[in-house]
Amino acid sequence: MFYPRGATRDLGSMESPTLARSMEISPADPARSPVGTPDSVRSHCLRILERGDLDSKLAPPVGPDGEPLPDLPSGPAVEIDRPTRGPGLRMTGGSDRLPRPGLLREPAHRMHCLSRFAHHELQAVEYFAWALVRWPGLPAELRRGLLSALADEQRHCRLYLDRLEAHGGDFETDDHSDYFWRQAPAIIASPAGPRAFLAAMGLTLEQANLDFTLTYRDGFARAGDSESAAVCQAVHDDEVAHVALAARWIGRLARPGRETTGARRAEPVSDEGSDLEDYLEAVPFPMGPARAKGRRFEVAPRRRAGLSEALIEHVRQARSRQERGRDAQRDAAKPDGASG
Ligand SMILES: [Fe+2]
Ligand SMILES: [Fe+2]
Repeated sequence: MFYPRGATRDLGSMESPTLARSMEISPADPARSPVGTPDSVRSHCLRILERGDLDSKLAPPVGPDGEPLPDLPSGPAVEIDRPTRGPGLRMTGGSDRLPRPGLLREPAHRMHCLSRFAHHELQAVEYFAWALVRWPGLPAELRRGLLSALADEQRHCRLYLDRLEAHGGDFETDDHSDYFWRQAPAIIASPAGPRAFLAAMGLTLEQANLDFTLTYRDGFARAGDSESAAVCQAVHDDEVAHVALAARWIGRLARPGRETTGARRAEPVSDEGSDLEDYLEAVPFPMGPARAKGRRFEVAPRRRAGLSEALIEHVRQARSRQERGRDAQRDAAKPDGASG
């Protein structure tokens, strides 16, 4: 189900070492490693996408010696519509709403959330693998960042699965929404190419997760489940780095050869506000600012990710179509002169 597409434009001249995150990849767990070991980042990613079992998708990107897999040559571009999923991992359209944090005292609601979060992470693993084979000509530094994020997502998935297991849940009998993968056709169709991926994944889904992880961290903690709360915090901390990676590279890819203002993650990643322009130009509908947040809006982690104040404020004020509809209904219900 994949189609070699020929090499993409070589962007290697933009490589810079300043942003490389250290690869925190633990050696393969033999008990969880599938038979046969990929010999490159490319073959590792293809296995994630083409094999349907969980162990193949969660095997860390290291060789038998525990060393990171080589990334060169990265091979021709490969277009894959959707990852292969075996029985138990099949995706379904749509999804019911997540239980509110206040309901997490009920173990069934905790299990529901842990399963959903684990599946978000699994989709993120596949999405990063998808990007790495779809755009093999991306700068080596960005590819290292994407691979490091992939390994983080694998670890996050394991962490949520371990918590689900501790509750007696069974991931492979739960429903799995295809929410992330439903966005893929719009990314594929976008002329922004990998910038559309960074905008949809890093600056929308992952930016929103900066809020959701803290909302549910506190929900689990209030419910007395400090271990699940700690997992949410660990995921949150890594998510800051993933948002920072997307924010920095969306600008670099938009303006090759021109370094943006910030050289370190703690500094703004762009000329003030240019990250907002880059985001709005590249983000494929229906992804967008209104989906880049949770109900609880956290400014501090966005600043830590290096987002400009302009982008943060734009996202904070963005209203979804449903919210605009509710606003209009509320205004219409007010007596004359009461609006504003
Ligand atoms: Fe994650
Ligand atoms: Fe992430």
